[in-house]
Amino acid sequence: MMMATTHVLEADAQHDFARMARALPPSDPLRSGLVGIALDEGRHAAYLREALVRKMSRASSAQAQIEMFKERKAQAVFKVVLEGLLGGSQVVPPRLSKPAAVEEQVSIAA
Ligand SMILES: [Fe+2]
Repeated sequence: MMMATTHVLEADAQHDFARMARALPPSDPLRSGLVGIALDEGRHAAYLREALVRKMSRASSAQAQIEMFKERKAQAVFKVVLEGLLGGSQVVPPRLSKPAAVEEQVSIAA
């Protein structure tokens, strides 16, 4: 579904631009521009998520779509990187495990 994939790309772009902004000194004029772009990307991601939830009429269904495309994107990146490292060999990307629920993460950290 186009909205889910685009949401993932927009959300990732938000984090990428924010990361680039943090790499610059606070006095650098480019920093505020990158922060502005990050905020825009975040709004785009939020809009797409909201549209997806409305279309699917359930937040849990929309979130499942988003998680599926996050996993596909990560697998595609793994595949490209591994093939690059292995000189063009065909590789099968690893299956990603689902992240632990927040409650599990908290109990693991405690
Ligand atoms: Fe965008």
